[in-house]
Amino acid sequence: MVDLQAQYLRMKSEIDTAIEDVLIKGDFIQGELVKIFESELARYTGSGHVISCANGTDALQIAMMALRFKKGDEVILPVHTYVATAEVIAVLGLSPIFVDVDKTTFTIDIDQVRKAITPKTVAIVPVHLYGLCADMESLLSLARRYDLKIIEDAAQALGSVYHFSDGINMAAGTMGIIGATSFFPSKNLGAYGDGGALFCSDDSLATLLRMVANHGQKEKYRHEIIGVNSRLDTIQAAILRVKLGYFDSYIQRRKVVAEYYDKHLASTEFLKLPQGVTYSSHTYHQYTVVTRGVDRDRLKKYLANLGIPTMIYYPIPLHHQIPYRSNASFPVAEELSRTVLSLPIHTEMDEDQLSYICSSINDFE
Ligand SMILES: Cc1ncc(COP(=O)(O)O)c(C=O)c1O
Repeated sequence: MVDLQAQYLRMKSEIDTAIEDVLIKGDFIQGELVKIFESELARYTGSGHVISCANGTDALQIAMMALRFKKGDEVILPVHTYVATAEVIAVLGLSPIFVDVDKTTFTIDIDQVRKAITPKTVAIVPVHLYGLCADMESLLSLARRYDLKIIEDAAQALGSVYHFSDGINMAAGTMGIIGATSFFPSKNLGAYGDGGALFCSDDSLATLLRMVANHGQKEKYRHEIIGVNSRLDTIQAAILRVKLGYFDSYIQRRKVVAEYYDKHLASTEFLKLPQGVTYSSHTYHQYTVVTRGVDRDRLKKYLANLGIPTMIYYPIPLHHQIPYRSNASFPVAEELSRTVLSLPIHTEMDEDQLSYICSSINDFE
């Protein structure tokens, strides 16, 4: 699905030098490069502050800790997402309230969000799934009306841009009160290990986020609030700095791959291809098709036999997972769990590979 080795080899000397510099300096925890990377990413995204942390899951948890939600508070999230989005809500003793997703964009269904709001609702966590932003304009207006916080899960959409109807453009992760992202190696901007970050443009909330991520302290050994140990390693920051320099070209490369699929699978009747929307760019963290009239799992096996990897994000909707089980019905998410298939997409794909994948798909009977 990804070729991180080939990507590394293209910038090997820069990466090796960056790592070596950290090894020589020895400032492995909270080194100077962490701050530098944070300010470069803040500049790139237009966020007031970037607070790095150990992974994207922690980023979501730190956001909810800093907002001081209380046990039993309800947080609305899409049921078709990675488990981390729900997990942190449950870990903090809050109530995850699942809603279905839109069948075209795969992102949270605004009408369902509206219906799920109760006096106990404190926040909505839209997930910019597969690299496409959720309908933030509608969500932000709902949040204003009901005085709710929006925490964006931008783990899959770093680099995506939302276009508001008044002409303002904003980066994924920077529109809610807090945004969270992940630098998991296969993400749009991937580290060589775990990593994550928070986006926040409120100065005092940003200070609080930084404290929560570092044992509740501003000053060493002065713990003012309950925190966690969640810091980005300096080595990862050094790697991410190098990769941030290539980030626009990575996104461009993903778009080229997506355009190839769009063109060469356009008349493949048993596939519904990803649909664009006017309000968001798509960074294609995943190129996810929906199968129709064929057995998705048979197609997956057929492609695997031809050496073509595919993935199912996600095969079991969260309300059917043991810790989050409920009798509620989410027909779109349930259908998607049976029909979605993500095709290989990454920065190193060449035309031969793409042509082989598309012709193999088109030969499927
Ligand atoms: C939608 C979503 N949210 C949260 C996460 C969690 O990120 P991490 O793996 O860095 O903890 C991921 C990453 O897999 C994700 O895809």
